[in-house]
Amino acid sequence: MRKITSILSSYVSEAFKACGYDPSLGSVTVSDRMDLCQFQCNGAFAAAKLYKKAPIMVAEEVAEALKKEGIFKVVEAVKPGFINMTLTDEYLVGYVNEIVADEHTGVPQSQTPETIVIDYGAPNVAKPLHIGHLRSAIIGEALKRIAREMGKTVYADVHLGDWGTPMGLVIAEYSERHPEWACFKEDFDPEKDEVPALDPDELNEVYPYASAKSKKDEAFKEKAHRITHELQNHRPGYYALWRELVKASISDIKSNFEKLNVSFDLWYGESDSDAYIPELVQILKDKGLLYESEGALVVDVQEPGDKINLPPVIIKKSDDSSIYATTDLATIIQRERDFKPDRIWYIVDKRQAMHFVQVFRCARKAGLVPDSTELRHLGFGTMNGADGKPFKTREGGVMRLSDLIKTATEGALEKLSGSEYVSGDMNETAQKIGVAAIKFGDLCNQPAKDYVFDLGKFLSFDGKTGTYLLYTVTRINSILKKAGIDYSEKRKITGIYTDAERELALIIALSGETYTKAIDDLAPCVLCDNAYNLASVFSRFYHDNRILSEEDELKRNSWLALSLLTRRVITKQLDMLGIDYVENM
Ligand code: ARG
Repeated sequence: MRKITSILSSYVSEAFKACGYDPSLGSVTVSDRMDLCQFQCNGAFAAAKLYKKAPIMVAEEVAEALKKEGIFKVVEAVKPGFINMTLTDEYLVGYVNEIVADEHTGVPQSQTPETIVIDYGAPNVAKPLHIGHLRSAIIGEALKRIAREMGKTVYADVHLGDWGTPMGLVIAEYSERHPEWACFKEDFDPEKDEVPALDPDELNEVYPYASAKSKKDEAFKEKAHRITHELQNHRPGYYALWRELVKASISDIKSNFEKLNVSFDLWYGESDSDAYIPELVQILKDKGLLYESEGALVVDVQEPGDKINLPPVIIKKSDDSSIYATTDLATIIQRERDFKPDRIWYIVDKRQAMHFVQVFRCARKAGLVPDSTELRHLGFGTMNGADGKPFKTREGGVMRLSDLIKTATEGALEKLSGSEYVSGDMNETAQKIGVAAIKFGDLCNQPAKDYVFDLGKFLSFDGKTGTYLLYTVTRINSILKKAGIDYSEKRKITGIYTDAERELALIIALSGETYTKAIDDLAPCVLCDNAYNLASVFSRFYHDNRILSEEDELKRNSWLALSLLTRRVITKQLDMLGIDYVENM
């Protein structure tokens, strides 16, 4: 189904053409002054320059031509040269009814096939999943779902941090605690020798311990470095232990991500790029890009116009080991080989912006992907506590994701206590509300901005919250149930009787646009805005009208159809955000 702005752009382009102007001037956008009009076109300003006329004259001519179309209640030229448009209710109803009939509920479908790899989540093996990974996981998951809904092919890759110095630190620490393990013997034989099952509690605590130790103990740090290097060269014992570490971590990570409705197609890690490193090095050598600097092999990425000093990318350290940039570059080769993606998106904390500039520049210089392939870093901001500093637990530590979900669930449970409305499992409903509160509280912000994590606010039934959206859905559920309407029915709207309905219809008509914008800007918040606007106008509509007891049959049916469609659009948006809704609360 076409987006409403593209349909209107066609009309306005035709009108520009009919008046003797370039049709490409007729592009229509949603009005930024909804109190004045629904849509606008600013093409008369550019036309004025091209055709040496006053903008208002062009706007007047075009507006006059548009009146003939009969789809506008108002179409007018406004000084100094805007063309303002408001649709007739009939046209709006017609468009909304097309959404009712559309199998994609108005979500615009990609015209050309497109493959996208999204790199998100990216937790690190042997380190507990903490809320630092929360944003990446929930933003990336939303983008994956939105892009898929638009018909794109998407591969979600968790890109585990499983290959750097932290692995060496962990193995070094195990070797001191359990020197008797066979995996620490020089002559470990993977055919005969075994690695004991790892204790999950020890696994969670070993990295922070080893990391702190390496800061005080130079010899230990050395040892960890040596082990990292030997691991990267696949020393059998270390490799076997490392595989156990990865296995244990993945099962913990999976169960946490599942609670957030986050899932991946590919459970690759940095280590999976290892096989492509020799090729990377060869390409860089062949292109004359690689040179030696202080014993390391590096590539220059500074460009003439740069305002900041960009250090060269280190490809191999002096001891021949690979680092973060090496695995990211090798992973690009791997992804190109496996999927030939049109786009690769990295959903990673904005503090890593420089790393991605270096990696992308190096990848371009080396020609690892065609020039047309998009390499894009979505750098998101920090989740802060009430004090404006990165969010911490009351004790000052980093809150673990599982604890966060638990706290939110308890908060929701408290709110629900005494509610007679919850059918089914109270705890399950509370967990869904808690997760919705966390996820929506995050997703409704511009990703690059820092935001304050305020659970009390996120759990509130009023305002722009996930809780409010779930509540709105339950309210619609109850109306539909009382009217005996099945949620999957498709019913047409017959007319617009009140202002709130017109607003609802317009927000629904615009919901398709939000998908395109969310993908263009990598900003799921655009969908959150549309969902919230729908919910709040629906509340007004609901308060102003007695839907169920309305005597005018035509009106009542239309109102029910509009409620049904509002539910369908909001629940689809919630699905896109990876937020479960509940039947009642
Ligand atoms: N594991 C890294 C971290 O926790 C993030 C990796 C992001 N993805 C990437 N391709 N570099 O900081």
